[in-house]
Amino acid sequence: MKVGVLTGGGDAPGLNGVVRAVVKVAATRGVEIVGVEDGFRGLVEPNRWRRLTPSDVSGILREGGTILGTTNHANPLSYPSDRGGVADHSSVCVDRYRELGLDGLIAIGGDGTLTIAHALWRKGLNIVGIPKTIDNDVAGTAVSLGFDTAVNVATEAVDRLHTTAESHHRIMVLEVMGRYTGWIALHAGIAGGADVILIPEIPFDLACIAARILERERLGARFSIVVAAEGATPRGGERAILEAGSAAALERLGGIGGRVAAGLEQATGREARSVLLGHVQRGAAPSAFDRLLATQFGARAMELVLSGQFGTMVTFNGEDLGVVALDTVVGRTSTVPEDSDGLRAARAIGVSFGD
Ligand code: F6P
Repeated sequence: MKVGVLTGGGDAPGLNGVVRAVVKVAATRGVEIVGVEDGFRGLVEPNRWRRLTPSDVSGILREGGTILGTTNHANPLSYPSDRGGVADHSSVCVDRYRELGLDGLIAIGGDGTLTIAHALWRKGLNIVGIPKTIDNDVAGTAVSLGFDTAVNVATEAVDRLHTTAESHHRIMVLEVMGRYTGWIALHAGIAGGADVILIPEIPFDLACIAARILERERLGARFSIVVAAEGATPRGGERAILEAGSAAALERLGGIGGRVAAGLEQATGREARSVLLGHVQRGAAPSAFDRLLATQFGARAMELVLSGQFGTMVTFNGEDLGVVALDTVVGRTSTVPEDSDGLRAARAIGVSFGD
């Protein structure tokens, strides 16, 4: 038996742990593993794969990134051509899969990768998906791989900003990733003890934030910490976009932190600074939790392949692993629910969401 494994979309800490688990399980079951390079680009273009043996994955559990490489610019369904524009290359992927003699393919990725995986499964490929994204926005699973590490990195950043904010009596705004969801901002904001958390799910009003900051000052706190998700949006206003999307690539978000800091400086008359945490959140060694999740996801995905349960994705509900059909995952986004325990606890202790 021969099984492929690929990592697609933005990298996330823990990817290597999955690859390692897949290869190690395969070695005990006499299965050959083919590592497909740079996500689905490795199925579109020739000779972008290599055999993986246990010695290839030795020592990678604690490494961030992905030994297979990845990209978020190689969607076979709208593949960029040299002459500009895009074309559907999914049949090339199907042919490559057959040419490589694969019996199954494990695709580790976020909503983009899983949508491609789903389309290729419908074209006859034996695919099992694994949810990874620091954004934690994949539907059907409570937790995606990489989220925990990103939250830890962002929390440490909030801790570091606290000391300088206190010393200078400033407002410090930390912008974190998360695309159209506020999971990282909410979790790191709570864990770091932020005073204000801005998430895309709750449009904010700058005047409300300013009022909260001045109220804190009246109570004796001469600094404030704001954590803003990159997708946070002012009520009735626009999202901050760094680069518009195209048929081949998603839009790039960024800049809301700077806008909020400037607005707060004007509204409060206090000094404000903004910090954009950016890809630092994706670059760390995976946390213990993500190493454990990676190992469990990889082992379970191999079980699904070996038992022929394709068109599926492994999940984790916070307690147990599970399996869902890819059909139920694509086209949906897991956002922060209004009644989530985290949100309610934050509100209960007085955190402002700018609403
Ligand atoms: O989806 C993961 C993510 O890190 C988002 O949080 C962020 O908006 C995006 O990817 C950044 O993408 P890129 O690596 O293309 O800058």
